[in-house]
Amino acid sequence: MHEILGWAIGDPNDGILTSKPAYGRLELDFGNKAGLRMIYADTTWQDAFNPNVVKAFEKTLADSHAAGINIRAVLIINPNNPIGRCYPKQTLISIMRFCQRHQLHLISDEIYGSSVFSDEFPPFTSVLSIEPGVISDQLLHVTYGFSKDFGAAGLRLGCVVTRNISILKVVQMTTRFHNPSGASLAIANAMLEDRDWCNTFLATSRRKIGEAYAFVTAELLDLGIDFVPANAGFFVYINLSPYLMQGAADAEFDLSQRLLDGGVFLHPKEEHGEMGWYRMVYTQEPRIVAEGLRR
Ligand SMILES: *[C@@H]1O[C@H](CO)[C@@H](O)[C@H](O)[C@H]1NC(C)=O
Repeated sequence: MHEILGWAIGDPNDGILTSKPAYGRLELDFGNKAGLRMIYADTTWQDAFNPNVVKAFEKTLADSHAAGINIRAVLIINPNNPIGRCYPKQTLISIMRFCQRHQLHLISDEIYGSSVFSDEFPPFTSVLSIEPGVISDQLLHVTYGFSKDFGAAGLRLGCVVTRNISILKVVQMTTRFHNPSGASLAIANAMLEDRDWCNTFLATSRRKIGEAYAFVTAELLDLGIDFVPANAGFFVYINLSPYLMQGAADAEFDLSQRLLDGGVFLHPKEEHGEMGWYRMVYTQEPRIVAEGLRR
């Protein structure tokens, strides 16, 4: 869906603006076919959730303009990947205003929207639930899919919610090449039509993610590994920087190689955040998570 939206709104070498840390594969989503570039504002994870994040966006927008890069859209993933928290409503409004002011599209990827497992941090607010008029509805697009909340990546089902007819036309044109199978549609239809099943499934899923989170964070505390407390998604952002080898030519890659030699894989340099911070997925059987941590 990102790929199709990117292709609809930009030309090769145009930019999509987002904050750091960021889910690293966005570069492939927007780059592989549409040829767009991800442009990262210089932010910490705390900045990303603050209404003032738009100050960093302003600066990056100006810098990009000076460098000849045409920014077409701002992208957020809400709940955030890799931080596992939702955007406060005021921050969403601030980002929407910023996009309206500069006539940029806002793409809100809400694929983890039903995987908020505690109320410790702000609840999930969809940009679509914010009163109209903050941003033109022609500039606002939401993506969703079955891969995360429903654990059904194999269905290959996603959607774009947009009111922009030109974009909708492009989406329809290109879905000729991305049509899901009738079997996928029948399964997804049965899932969504059965409201009781749906609600029970999502409630069970949230409970199980919460349990897995409690397990992994207790283990991390035990090991003395620092992390950002989360309440959404399947991952936790952990600080392995104390294990970086001084003087290594590429310390983060080197650490990942040592982890791999020990039998676990954490993707180096994926999140464009501070050196030595990794996104750790923990939604596995406790014995698997414990074994991974032991290694
Ligand atoms: C819809 O999006 C396209 C693609 O960026 C843009 O050119 C157009 O102005 C938008 N439509 C409206 C009515 O704003």
